[in-house]
Amino acid sequence: MSVGSHAVATPGATPTHASSARATLLTEGTRAEMRQIIARYPQARSALLPMLHLVQSVEGYVTQAGIELCAQELDLTTAEVSAVATFYTMYKRRPVGEYHVGVCTNTLCAVLGGDAILHELEHHLGITHDETTEDGRVSLEHIECNAACDYAPVMTVNWEFLDSQTPASAVAAVDTLRAGGVVHSTRGPAICTWRQASRVLAGFSDGQAGAGPSAGPATLAGLRIARHNDWRAPGVEKHDHAQDRVDGAAHRATEAAVASAATSVSLTGDPVEPADAPAGSTGSHDHGGVGGVGGAVVDAVEAVGAWIGEHLPGHAHDRSSSAHQPDRHGPDGQTRSDGGDRP
Ligand code: FES
Repeated sequence: MSVGSHAVATPGATPTHASSARATLLTEGTRAEMRQIIARYPQARSALLPMLHLVQSVEGYVTQAGIELCAQELDLTTAEVSAVATFYTMYKRRPVGEYHVGVCTNTLCAVLGGDAILHELEHHLGITHDETTEDGRVSLEHIECNAACDYAPVMTVNWEFLDSQTPASAVAAVDTLRAGGVVHSTRGPAICTWRQASRVLAGFSDGQAGAGPSAGPATLAGLRIARHNDWRAPGVEKHDHAQDRVDGAAHRATEAAVASAATSVSLTGDPVEPADAPAGSTGSHDHGGVGGVGGAVVDAVEAVGAWIGEHLPGHAHDRSSSAHQPDRHGPDGQTRSDGGDRP
């Protein structure tokens, strides 16, 4: 059942948008999904952006009926919803192609071939910016920097990246999509339709979020060069990788010791009395589980020392002599009775 009541213009009023005269595809199911989205946020109005994507996933673009439904569900005015929908360029107020192609023509992409890609696609498709092919399959948009300059020149299809493009590769991609073929983003996922992509942006997963790498070689090139040359930001201490290894060893040893000690603590929190433990050492509720964990910490500290001594004797010596030794003395320089192991 459609939510037609929200798509019908006020009786006697002149429709102000083409969508007002168009049968909406929004249904009570759409309304229910909007309420799922709203439930994710502490403030209902925070749900507006994904709700508009949901409208696009159903209607193909942000229709007047979609604006009215969002306004009703969020207790906003249609003017407030329209203000948001017309501010962000990812929301379209008229139909786009099943595959919406964006070509970056910002500085870096432009000089590396973005302008040539856009011109080639315009010529090949017979459309220009903000237009759609007659078959409704492909629309074109020149877009500003996509924050993917490391893979310039880039283009997107339904916001999935196609990195390091050429005019020929861009034409091949749109031709394959128009012919009903499958094109994969250079970052992994298969490119889906505009409506499917809009549904993902509304927060309904298509299961492809984990496809492909999270950072490619070009993205990490600067980091590799900086490490190779030992470059650091001003004021940042030289990174001690040997210290990292010691800290990592200590962390692993502590985890192992705590896990070992945990096996001697019952699920009720009562420690299990070891057969050879001194009477009262762990057997009362006064010490209880906390006493067991305290023992585990002592064991962990000992295990850390043993592990470091075994695997990294040089570093273990360095740490004990430079960091631990001064703690054994009080402010007056006298050796403390507790050996300085505790504050
Ligand atoms: S200039 Fe094209 S992604 Fe930045």
